[in-house]
Amino acid sequence: MAILMDGKQTAEAIRLQIADEVVELKEKGKKIPHLAAILVGHDGASLTYVTHKVKDCEQVGFKSTLLRFDADITEDFLLDQIDKVNDNHDIDGLIVQLPLPEHISVEKVTSRILPQKDVDGFHPSNVGKMVKSQPTFISATPFGIVKLLEHYKIDTKGKHCVVIGRSDIVGTPMSILLSRKTYPGDCTVTLCHSRTPDIAAFTRSADIIVAALGIPEFLKGDMVKEGAVVIDVGITRVPDSSKKSGYSLTGDVKFDEVSPKCSYITPVPGGVGPMTRASLLLNTLLASKKIV
Ligand code: GUN
Repeated sequence: MAILMDGKQTAEAIRLQIADEVVELKEKGKKIPHLAAILVGHDGASLTYVTHKVKDCEQVGFKSTLLRFDADITEDFLLDQIDKVNDNHDIDGLIVQLPLPEHISVEKVTSRILPQKDVDGFHPSNVGKMVKSQPTFISATPFGIVKLLEHYKIDTKGKHCVVIGRSDIVGTPMSILLSRKTYPGDCTVTLCHSRTPDIAAFTRSADIIVAALGIPEFLKGDMVKEGAVVIDVGITRVPDSSKKSGYSLTGDVKFDEVSPKCSYITPVPGGVGPMTRASLLLNTLLASKKIV
């Protein structure tokens, strides 16, 4: 039976460490880390995510600023707001919650954030540094997965890792991080995506699977070999009338079928999600210390 990789508990341990560090910073009269988040529009899921990020800041003693704008703001207006945060010396880190309305270019927005405040790690120069294994901000979800693999001492060297999904935010950086010459890393990585004809042919030989394609319960029991480590990044809201909210959060892995075959598996919720949130705090701390 699989060991559950408990992201909730692991993230809580990280948050406690960060909170201790903030207490020390306060005692020494040093600057308190400050995260700013920009939310454009009224998407329910995005609002939930950003609200969590702000609450996490409060919990560890960081300062936070939430800037909310209507979906019909112009791209130029948003870029001006980013410039203002860039120029605000009290703010260490800035995130612009994605997705953005279609008329706003994600590329322009992520490139406008000062690389030293880009705690999402989305700026092209930070992505480049990550590819070259230079110190930088690693995007929160891949960073959280790396931390979880470390925490559970998952052996990655020489393993075949299959990443499903090639998004800029998760799949692509994950495939790069796991192939780097370090721990966790040194994997032989296969990056599968929507144009891969037979994904199961790859996952069946995988020692580690990172499912990040956003299709609920895509990874079935017969697609996984015995003893695999399975990381489920999916978190889709699926209608569920039995829940007060009207939906349940469903991962990309058919948990009941897959978990009996695994050595380790992340649950949804309570796996990668909390680690993503903790990683944003770690990046904000790094930004405030001017380490990156
Ligand atoms: N939307 C989904 N994931 C993320 C994330 O990690 N950062 C931002 N800014 N937006 C997101």
